[in-house]
Amino acid sequence: MAEICELLEAARQLVTLVDHDGPRGLDALRGYTVLNMFGEPSTRTRSSFEIAGRRLGANVVTFVVDEKSSTTKGESFRDTVRNLDAMGLDALVVRHVQDGLPEKITQWVRARVVNAGDGRLEHPTQALLDTLTILEAFNRPLAADRTLDGLRVAICGDVDNGRVAHSDILAFRALGAYVVTAGPEQLLSDEIARRYEVPCVRNLDDAIDGADVVVMLRIQRERLSGELSMSDAEYHAAWGLTETRLERTAPTSIVLHPGPINRGIELPDSVADGPRSRILRQVSLGVAVRMAVLCRACGVTPEEIPP
Ligand code: NCD
Repeated sequence: MAEICELLEAARQLVTLVDHDGPRGLDALRGYTVLNMFGEPSTRTRSSFEIAGRRLGANVVTFVVDEKSSTTKGESFRDTVRNLDAMGLDALVVRHVQDGLPEKITQWVRARVVNAGDGRLEHPTQALLDTLTILEAFNRPLAADRTLDGLRVAICGDVDNGRVAHSDILAFRALGAYVVTAGPEQLLSDEIARRYEVPCVRNLDDAIDGADVVVMLRIQRERLSGELSMSDAEYHAAWGLTETRLERTAPTSIVLHPGPINRGIELPDSVADGPRSRILRQVSLGVAVRMAVLCRACGVTPEEIPP
């Protein structure tokens, strides 16, 4: 809890930098080396970590674990990681398909490890940037205990396969929000209700009724065991957040989506690009959050970041 608040406070200090109101870069991490190791496709998270590191003056290297890396020559993944660490890394940012891999890597390396999304499990920096977006939209103080008190958040769609959903549930609830999840049985199992003690609703209208925040998720087809039992059109009709449906939410509600958006499926253009959407703001704030996270990983305290 304290760590979440400290990171958000540091990120807020850095927001002027991502809004281009302040200096274009800082020297806080000059001389530090950050390696981004990505073993899964990524647009936002990968670019955001790279930009964050560079804006802080760090040496940033991105290593894509693919057919060009030595894992295809028979090297074990542990050896690959230990070799990279031996080059003198301060922070190692990891995205991987395997659940729990970033945590395992902490036992193999000297560098501080940052989880940039592991399998179906967690995506902590996305949860932080989602939280910062909500705090900003509702003008809530950062460091206050239960700063999301009184806010109703609906997380809708493919919750089972959505690591963003899992980290969001943990972060939002830790800060006092009321969280409800919604999705069809194939994408939202009762296991989620058991694991996180959140309501699982089988009807989108009920879930978003009076909601202050609606987090929409794409269907993570690459993680589904079989085909989804409904067509895109059927899914949109039952689970798409249309403008008509949006009228059920609170008058000041906001819409979030971690991206990539599958337009016309979970969100129509009118909502994705509409006045309630904070989706691009999430992306901007993501850079500030990752700057704060990299500073922490490298042991640079927020006090060293100029206001
Ligand atoms: C998500 C991810 O990769 O976990 N996107 C992101 O990081 N912004 C969600 C997704 O892939 O659907």
